[in-house]
Amino acid sequence: MTDLPPRRSDELLRAAIGHLQLAGVPQPRVDAELLLAHVLGTSRGRAQALALVGRDLPLPVAARYRELVLRRGLREPLQHLTGHAGFRRIELAVGPGVFVPRPETEVLVEHVLRALPEGGRVVDLGTGSGAIALSIADERPDADVLGVERSPEAFAWADGNRARLGVANARIVPGDLADAAPEWDGSVDVVVSNPPYVPDGMVPRDPEVERFDPPAALYGGPDGLDPMRAVVATAERLLKPGGLLAVEHGEEQGEPTRALLGDGWHDAATHPDLTGRDRVTTARFR
Ligand SMILES: C[S@@+](CC[C@H](N)C(=O)[O-])C[C@H]1O[C@@H](n2cnc3c(N)ncnc32)[C@H](O)[C@@H]1O
Repeated sequence: MTDLPPRRSDELLRAAIGHLQLAGVPQPRVDAELLLAHVLGTSRGRAQALALVGRDLPLPVAARYRELVLRRGLREPLQHLTGHAGFRRIELAVGPGVFVPRPETEVLVEHVLRALPEGGRVVDLGTGSGAIALSIADERPDADVLGVERSPEAFAWADGNRARLGVANARIVPGDLADAAPEWDGSVDVVVSNPPYVPDGMVPRDPEVERFDPPAALYGGPDGLDPMRAVVATAERLLKPGGLLAVEHGEEQGEPTRALLGDGWHDAATHPDLTGRDRVTTARFR
């Protein structure tokens, strides 16, 4: 891959897969094909088909592909290179300064959708790209959704996503989750959050996470649960009687998260993600 690139799509793809494999990228073929699709402005299936017939690519396209594959080899997230991330039914613009939404968070949204009454109010604390708030608003046009984000960079991504997707029933506001939405005190049906939850001393395993996700989206104090404590306090202020709290946490944090729920909370339960790891805790208030 470091030599002058071949121009034939099949040779280029083969070289890219080999390069990403050597770089330790978890799914080298998938990423090589998705990057090829991105530079060609087409679908992954069409890119696969083009690679099969071994057509010559225009030189600028081949050069752009080579550049992106080299950056992916340096473990820049695929979503930063393509500029977007799929989340449930929506595509979110993402890049430097915002947390890339993860598939496990789609399960968190599922818990919210199941519990949300007709016309219900939802507050998403620490909305990042807007993944949770905007997907709920997209799937439930009857809901009234508010996303709150403290980081100015992430706020700009989320607000841009809201405008581009045109979801009229969602608002994104800047601010600290501790002071979120005082105008809605005692009237919210669901408080949802995927807060930072990595303990300060822990180094994330994946270089994509360690080097490219914003630290403010990852680290949560000595035990990782400082933001969760603030989320619980805010939920106690915002939720109406019988309202639901739904939070994402680390696989070892189900029991410690339930332990943060004091008087007034009931029906606390921890649920697995798609890989069977504890990932989401839900509870009802009053
Ligand atoms: C793990 S990311 C989750 C982003 C998004 N909700 C998702 O699931 O993809 C946590 C987000 O919370 C934001 N955040 C951290 N502390 C915050 C605070 N005190 N108030 C508001 N947002 C906060 C971070 O900037 C980051 O965008």
